Amino acid sequence: MERTKIAKLLTAGEVGKPVMVKGWVRTKRGNKNVAFVALNDGSTVHHLQLVLDVQKFDEDLLKKVTTGACLCAAGNLVASQGGGQSVEVVVDSLELYGTADPETYPLQKKGHSLEFLREISHLRPRTNTFGCVLRIRHAMAYAIHKFFNDNGFYYLHTPLITGSDAEGAGAMFQVTTLEVGNPPRTPKNEVDYAQDFFGKPTNLTVSGQLEGELGALALGEIYTFGPTFRAENSNTPRHLAEFWMIEPEMAFYEIKDNMDLAEKFIKYLVQYALDNCRDDLQFLNDMYDKELLQRLQSVCSTDFVRLSYTDGIKILEQCGQKFEFPVYWGADLQSEHERYLVEQHFQRPVILTDYPKEIKAFYMKQNEDGKTVRAMDVLFPKIGEIIGGSQREESLEKLQQRIDELNIDTKTMWWYLDTRRFGSAPHSGFGLGFERLLLFVTGMGNIRDVIPFARTPKNAEF
Ligand code: 4AD
Ligand code: MG
Repeated sequence: MERTKIAKLLTAGEVGKPVMVKGWVRTKRGNKNVAFVALNDGSTVHHLQLVLDVQKFDEDLLKKVTTGACLCAAGNLVASQGGGQSVEVVVDSLELYGTADPETYPLQKKGHSLEFLREISHLRPRTNTFGCVLRIRHAMAYAIHKFFNDNGFYYLHTPLITGSDAEGAGAMFQVTTLEVGNPPRTPKNEVDYAQDFFGKPTNLTVSGQLEGELGALALGEIYTFGPTFRAENSNTPRHLAEFWMIEPEMAFYEIKDNMDLAEKFIKYLVQYALDNCRDDLQFLNDMYDKELLQRLQSVCSTDFVRLSYTDGIKILEQCGQKFEFPVYWGADLQSEHERYLVEQHFQRPVILTDYPKEIKAFYMKQNEDGKTVRAMDVLFPKIGEIIGGSQREESLEKLQQRIDELNIDTKTMWWYLDTRRFGSAPHSGFGLGFERLLLFVTGMGNIRDVIPFARTPKNAEF
């Protein structure tokens, strides 16, 4: 007999038919005549109830059916007698694949804290919560590719190992095959990178944008979707050292087109989750965040506010709220400021534009005022910045001037400047932090809980 997945049995199973299921035991209860086993196979947050006539099975075998054990059961699908489920399986035959010793298996009871589960990241996918989060994560990744494919964008694979620093922020992980404690030296006693694997210093990428621009200025509209790495020592609920980023880049888009795309994109993704991840969202709504579904629906149906940084600063200066970090024109906004604008003042997502050039990257298009650049950050409730992007500086002269002002080493950038040298075009793009999106969609409070294996300062165990 072929195995049927539990999600299918619970939604479209035919009562009276023989079925075979495979999965992990979540709970077992019962008495000396009958045992009820809740089985989960990862296909849905819901468990399938197995009913076993205790007389029919070997006592030793049944003893080993404990929480965490893996088994295969065959029997008849019947309408359920008890409440809580519509169908259940009356089991005829049982095969145990793997036992889980109750003395040592850590996931015995329900309701472990998320902090505890982070310490057993290797097992937490077997909990209801992480089953939901991981299924939603998958659905969002799929929806991202679908959105771009349906809108004429090409998926461009940009390198993970790079010789340049895209954001100019300097928080990069070095990649080397040189012996760390004893690298070869030049006559001037500097590390001799000519002998390194790539013949020069290299790092893990902080963004695929610069290479993405090369793609956009040839293919028109591209997107990247891959891991990015930042060695910033920020131990917050919103930062990872290894996170995934989606970066669309579009030729001929100005800032307004860029904002329109960002808004349409996020609304599409949230709507996709509402349409396709209903059971998982309902579970998270009930268990963690009673306003989750309502918040998701409201984002899909309201226009995002569009506001300049300068006007945003005015609101923050005049609001009378005490902030930990000071607010003044020129200050980099902290998440407390972003969340005040979104949650208190406007009560909907905000796209903030035209930031001071000093606090933004070198590649952003400079405004006429000489002070601001055509940046756009999308700010979301509970999270703050979810997207960062801009129109790009297309003038070689202005770009070169900014690079010089910031003392950026052009030796590693000549190929990027070539885009402005040959057939330059107005263009724009942005980066959506995949895990920040997932924080919003799942309602989870900590970014460590929306990625299977979190990489944060002092933590790379699993
Ligand atoms: O604002 P950022 O630094 O922008 C860029 O990297 C641009 N190159 C994007 C572009 O225009 N193509 O990062 C973009 C987004 C942020 O808005 C945030 O959602 C996410 O990436 N992000 C992080 N997510 C998790 N952990 C971190 N340490 C993150 N740093 C940025
Ligand atoms: Mg940013």
